[in-house]
Amino acid sequence: MGFFNDQQNFSPSAEGRVEAIAKVTGKGKFSAEYSVKNVAYAVLVGSTVPSGSIQSINLEVAKEVAGVIDIITHQHKPIVPGFADETKIKESKFGLPVFHTDKIYFKGQPIAMVIAETLEEATYAASLVEVQYIKDNFNVDFESSHPKSELKVEGKERGNLSSWTSSPYVVEEEYNIKAEVHNPMEMHATIAEWTGENQLKLYDKNQGVNNVQRVFAGLFSIPEKNIEVISEFVGGGFGSGLRVWPHALAAVMGAKMVKRPVKLMLTRPQMFAGTGYRPASWQKIKLGADASGKFSGIWHQAKNGTSVYENFSEGITRVTRLIYNFENLKAESSIVPLNLSTPTWMRGPGDCTGDFAIESAIDELSYKLNQDPVALRLKNIALDKNPETGLPWSTNYLNECIEMGAKMINWNERKPLPNQTSDGDWKIGYGMAVGMWNAGRGKASAAIRMQKNGVITVQTAMTDIGTGTGTGMQNIAHDITGIPKSNIKIELGNSNLPPAPSQGGSNGMSSVSGAIVEVSKALKLKLAEYASLQNDKFKNVKSDDVLLSDKGISIKATAKDFVSYDEIWKKNNLDILEVEGNSGPGEERKKYSFCSSAAHFCKLRVNTKTGKVKIEKMVCVADGGKIVNDKAAANQMSGAAVGGIGMALMEEQMVDAKLGGLIANDLAGYHFPVNADAPMIEVAFIGKPDPNINPTGAKGLGEVGIIGTAPAIANAIYNAIGKRMRDLPITPDKILLA
Ligand code: MOS
Repeated sequence: MGFFNDQQNFSPSAEGRVEAIAKVTGKGKFSAEYSVKNVAYAVLVGSTVPSGSIQSINLEVAKEVAGVIDIITHQHKPIVPGFADETKIKESKFGLPVFHTDKIYFKGQPIAMVIAETLEEATYAASLVEVQYIKDNFNVDFESSHPKSELKVEGKERGNLSSWTSSPYVVEEEYNIKAEVHNPMEMHATIAEWTGENQLKLYDKNQGVNNVQRVFAGLFSIPEKNIEVISEFVGGGFGSGLRVWPHALAAVMGAKMVKRPVKLMLTRPQMFAGTGYRPASWQKIKLGADASGKFSGIWHQAKNGTSVYENFSEGITRVTRLIYNFENLKAESSIVPLNLSTPTWMRGPGDCTGDFAIESAIDELSYKLNQDPVALRLKNIALDKNPETGLPWSTNYLNECIEMGAKMINWNERKPLPNQTSDGDWKIGYGMAVGMWNAGRGKASAAIRMQKNGVITVQTAMTDIGTGTGTGMQNIAHDITGIPKSNIKIELGNSNLPPAPSQGGSNGMSSVSGAIVEVSKALKLKLAEYASLQNDKFKNVKSDDVLLSDKGISIKATAKDFVSYDEIWKKNNLDILEVEGNSGPGEERKKYSFCSSAAHFCKLRVNTKTGKVKIEKMVCVADGGKIVNDKAAANQMSGAAVGGIGMALMEEQMVDAKLGGLIANDLAGYHFPVNADAPMIEVAFIGKPDPNINPTGAKGLGEVGIIGTAPAIANAIYNAIGKRMRDLPITPDKILLA
């Protein structure tokens, strides 16, 4: 078990993040920062109406601006083969066929793009593009439209709905969550360059270079290998970089049109309608228990908003089907088309939303039953097997997370009845909730290049979106080979490197770690093979039998059997030694289910005069299998919890139902926690490796850091003031009016 308080106990050490110095000195380049010769600057023009079609576009004035090279519109553009006709557009699954339609689906939809010699010229000219629209009816109001959308069954139904609804203890309530926007610190940007006929090079902010490569290969019908995607440093993603958005394609089209490299960076307001968001949602839960507190059944209905040009379903009820032993369960969902851009996965997508409803309902039930919420959960969690698939969990230590978290927050100081503890105008309360995430794993590959001086470079195409992937890779390579960390360099985020999955869904470390183990072993075996030419003892050894140092290879058991890299390089006339390793999921996935989980606890105070909520302490205990790097993992969990505080108390993308656009779509208008809002966050891990998931035993982290946060806060607010808050965000007005 590790215990971290990342605000107090962390001291900088030489063994920090591999990319830290590059990032803080500005040496590490984010996508928009590469200097590319002869680059032109592009600025998008967004639709000013939410629905209808383009009647005409007048570019005359805009074209007069000095420095303007060209302006793309749906009438003047290079044709994207993947958008050649309606059928191809559908098949491309790209979503918005940017510049290939005169239809308007949402306000802010890119309808033109100015390309100029400077950013200033492009920005000014973009403001002079005149568009006439044929306006059509629109709807951006989720709240008033969701009642019309029809629910469909989601997942396997269990038992019988009617058998339990007359249970002695039943909670039946509705929950609403406003749309939220990722807002990573780095804004999305693409520099596109056609380096030859059908040869494309992209510096692009994303969470998966191979995915970007695949999408453009499909759209332009060119081989994937002709496309290089570089995303070496990523300033946060939260899911916004998991798909290719219209602006990236716009940059590629622009470069094709002006036959020059084109750089396009979204403005912060453009990010709100350009790179996805967590959709608004409505849920209804009916939850029953017998007098002992054993859950008798659950009925979970969920709806989320989507766009009018694409169907996006969040998978809100997935988590409901995962955590608890519900013998009777029915889950239903539907989506609600709106004149907004398409939502996407965001920070614990689906599960965050669903978990808020079920964990709030369970808390409410605990008061009805007069049972402790901790004990009630321990009684009902499905610890042995995945209740949906019936497969046994490979490992599931959610019970230990709950027990440890309760100790860390001093749960025994919580008053079982609400509204019991005051401090002046403040009321104090405790709350908790749990969360779970399917622990996935994808196919990944990695390479190691070793130089004569013993320095190795570990490579994979996977991006590191700030989660510490590179640092974790270094840790694993060091553990397996024995080479000092100072001699292990990391290269990632380039599609020319060995392919790996996108970094998302808490799959990054789980997937890539296997490949790092394999390639580290391959390096040892390759060196042993060379060493055996000098010393017989190295013949037919296993990778575990040998150890590498900064100087050479030795037999673990004897230590005196040693061959230096120097000798190996000389004897074999080597320049660079290169090995590869692959790994991926296999038969184990047929035998076991895999999950990561966490328990969140919160102590907070609510001001009864102002409605302000001040979180005093947050505790998060997670089961993520083996923890590869303590600091990076704890940092990810506390960061995720801050995201959860935003979800609970502040974040809300407001829409203007009258004019059909977003309001307050910048970082002044969109509220999220700053340092003053972020409390002490104590993070701990169970730390037991999962023996089946991959060679390291590391399960995913990230999503479980946020999933239980918002309900833990809402539950603590109830404990403090006796008011049940079922709509997020819980802003002071809601508290005062409740
Ligand atoms: Mo995420 S929503 O796993 O990038």
